[in-house]
Amino acid sequence: MVQDLNAAKAKSAEVLQLLAKKTLETNEREQVILDSVKYWTDHVNPGFLQYRKSVSTDYTAVEWDDNGAVFRDVHGKEFIDMLGGFGIYNVGHRHPKVLAAVTQQLERQAIHSQELIDPLRTYLAHLVSLITPGSLQYSFFTNSGTESVEACLKMSMLTTGRKHFVGAIGAFHGKTLGALGGTSKAVFREPFLPLLHWSHVPFGDKDALKKHLECCDFSGDKVAAVVLEPIQGEGGINIAPHGYLAAAREICDRYGALLVFDEIQCGMGRTGKMFYCEFDEISPDLMALGKAFGGGVMPIGAAVGTAKTWQRYIENPFLHTTTFGGNPLACAAAIATINVLLEEDLTTAAAEKGRYLLPALDVLARTYPKVMTSARGVGLMIGMEFVDNELGFAVAKNLFARNILISGTYINARVLRVEPPLVISYEQIDRFIGALEESLNAVYKEYKL
Ligand SMILES: Cc1ncc(COP(=O)(O)O)c(C=O)c1O
Repeated sequence: MVQDLNAAKAKSAEVLQLLAKKTLETNEREQVILDSVKYWTDHVNPGFLQYRKSVSTDYTAVEWDDNGAVFRDVHGKEFIDMLGGFGIYNVGHRHPKVLAAVTQQLERQAIHSQELIDPLRTYLAHLVSLITPGSLQYSFFTNSGTESVEACLKMSMLTTGRKHFVGAIGAFHGKTLGALGGTSKAVFREPFLPLLHWSHVPFGDKDALKKHLECCDFSGDKVAAVVLEPIQGEGGINIAPHGYLAAAREICDRYGALLVFDEIQCGMGRTGKMFYCEFDEISPDLMALGKAFGGGVMPIGAAVGTAKTWQRYIENPFLHTTTFGGNPLACAAAIATINVLLEEDLTTAAAEKGRYLLPALDVLARTYPKVMTSARGVGLMIGMEFVDNELGFAVAKNLFARNILISGTYINARVLRVEPPLVISYEQIDRFIGALEESLNAVYKEYKL
């Protein structure tokens, strides 16, 4: 498109007017939809629009506002959010306490000077050291999950002087060039090879991990860190078997490798503990946080490490920096999020609601086995497995038509994820279960099963 500053001035003013309105007229709603589809096609990525269209079945589901466990499209149609932004909305959409903290900070200062000591970063780092297990002490705040993983990789290299990372099959750690090495699926990695030096082992198999590190050690290809998601999210909700994380801890210690846990999706209360690794009563050397950390209001992640992993970085703090990471608005959101999780005891709520929901999904899997084969999960991190990708997608589409949002995973298309806000009500859970039963029924009929 040719440069046209006058057009940009007029259009930006028009959008600001729209934002300032409490409610939109019917013609304005239609215009938002038309504009969104056109500009997504022309200026974002038409390929992605096709993907979204197939779930929504039409173009009307342009999201506009949200709260609690629901969001509404621009026409005001309400959806129960069973996807939860892939684990962003643990404290719910726009929790009033998170909003208040961010708004109050916004009225004071938005972005830090970059030179003085910004206090909210320090309060947040202190709080993180209090909520994380073991002797995790220092935090480097980021703007996203993948950046949190990047920081963990760099701290591992600095600490061990090694450059070889071991990840797991089924893993997803993000798509920047360092973290992408750990993401396991060929379709995402192959176009960008060679990446950092990564190798992958089967997830959940402690003997395979031990053998691999033994071989790496023998051959001199020594491992800087083993990087694991305690529950693989994008891999299809694969839960580390009890004892696996503890075994990984032992194996890493034996071979001088660091242990990094990526709790970006499974952390912050979702599984019934603040962090899933607590179930194995061990802690990593480094932990990556993101998604729910900012309360679904601000983007913020963290690389959290022990004193040992921070030693070289303390000697030269300019080895890793970021302009916006840990800005006051994002820190305000994360501080409020931690407070809400604890004051509302959302970890217990996640455990209880999971115990209510999972057996109901099990019953449906047994009733409709030609479509849905099983359900598994911990707390409100649940996966529903389908016979194949097509049938899973058909169920997602049917659910969407019944005002329920749900989605598959990047790595394992046969699994639909159930990761609602932890504040979801039992009545909303029941509505989801009812809609799922109707959807399974409809798919049985459609495919003549
Ligand atoms: C476990 C895990 N790690 C890392 C990431 C990457 O986070 P982001 O998309 O914020 O970069 C994700 C995102 O889905 C994730 O689930």
